[in-house]
Amino acid sequence: MNTKTQVGIIGAGPSGLLLSHLLHLENIDSVILEARDRQYVEERVRAGVLEQGTVDLLCETGLGERLQREGIVHHGIELRFDGHGHRIALSDLSGGRSIWIYGQQEVVKDIIDTRLAAGGKIHFEADNVNLSGIDSTQPALTYRKDNQDHAVTCDFIAGCDGFHGVSRDSIPAGVLRTYHHVYPFGWLGILAAVEPSTEELIYAYHERGFALHSLRSPEISRLYIQVDPDEDISNWPDDRIWEELSLRLATEDDWTLKTGPVLEKGITPMRSFVVEPMQYGRLYLAGDAAHIVPATGAKGLNLAVHDVHKLAEALIAWYREGSDKLLEQYSDRCLGRVWRVQDFSSFMSLMLHRFSEDDGFKGRLQRAQLKYVCSSEAAARSLAENYVGLPHYGKYT
Ligand code: APR
Ligand code: PHB
Repeated sequence: MNTKTQVGIIGAGPSGLLLSHLLHLENIDSVILEARDRQYVEERVRAGVLEQGTVDLLCETGLGERLQREGIVHHGIELRFDGHGHRIALSDLSGGRSIWIYGQQEVVKDIIDTRLAAGGKIHFEADNVNLSGIDSTQPALTYRKDNQDHAVTCDFIAGCDGFHGVSRDSIPAGVLRTYHHVYPFGWLGILAAVEPSTEELIYAYHERGFALHSLRSPEISRLYIQVDPDEDISNWPDDRIWEELSLRLATEDDWTLKTGPVLEKGITPMRSFVVEPMQYGRLYLAGDAAHIVPATGAKGLNLAVHDVHKLAEALIAWYREGSDKLLEQYSDRCLGRVWRVQDFSSFMSLMLHRFSEDDGFKGRLQRAQLKYVCSSEAAARSLAENYVGLPHYGKYT
């Protein structure tokens, strides 16, 4: 079957879904093609920290109802090392901004519900998605669904298909410059049915490796430990994970880690990745299709939201005013923030993880850094303003 739309979107992650919603608010038609089924997309456990700016955008565009009811506002985080915790007062140090705890898959569910209720077109289980004519004014997407071939002709294509998607690879060789750094560790993450042992997130530096205590709700905890990047999850029965978490999060006072049934577990590699530019012809890349940040800064989702906000503004200007200025500037308007966030995520990662070679010098530098951030207001303020999200960073000047 052949159909037409204004913007063809590949991927129903946060990037593709939010883009489709923002365009819809301006009566711009889009079609989303998603390789997976709806349940998979809605249940995939990812990060859960939303910057103030992300929350503001979701609320201003009608996506904040459940977020405001169920999201948990946090005004600080804890850095824990050498058996002691040190609070970084995020809101006090950043002019009153804060972060919200709300799982990425909850954001995804909210946008899917809203799009479908408004008649939005999301084609799940679309196989063999292929892009053509991206350097023409009529690019097209083809795909296979329910044993039938389909084609969608578009004005523009948004590649929102994540790190492993097809859109980036459909750009001719030689156009993109790729920056890639793989960290020598991964994170083993668990979701557990247990009341969090902390009110605020704890980032722990420990000689056995990094640990993070996060949460999702008063009944659900989310925790991570640093492991080798090629670690086999079968080496980590639940008891061993809890034991390791208890060791790495231990303090000199009587703090104890509450344990409970593990609902989900998995290992994620840590990498930094950026392509420049984030566009070619009529194809625009957004979110993980264009960049990945290590999870230590809690920025992946927030960066994706920033991209699609800029892309929606640019497409709206093209349809409303016939101006291609913002489309031409799309990549530049995004990359300023992308690199700021890469730097912050790298800073957090290098400060908090154990490196195999760090038997001396590196470990001393990490401790010096941690002590500085926990004792100097200037250093803490820098961490805080980055963590809650720099409000206007990346604006085109
Ligand atoms: N065809 C159609 N859909 C595809 C294809 C393909 N060939 N390849 C991938 N997809 C889909 C994936 O199944 C996924 O649902 O694209 C979607 C991409 O979603 P995400 O990976 O969540 O990426 P994005 O929307 O950019 O969100 C970025 O996700 O990975 C986290 O930490 C990251 O929070 C950040 C956020
Ligand atoms: C999470 O809650 O999943 C989380 C929190 C903070 C991070 C990364 C992930 O830095």
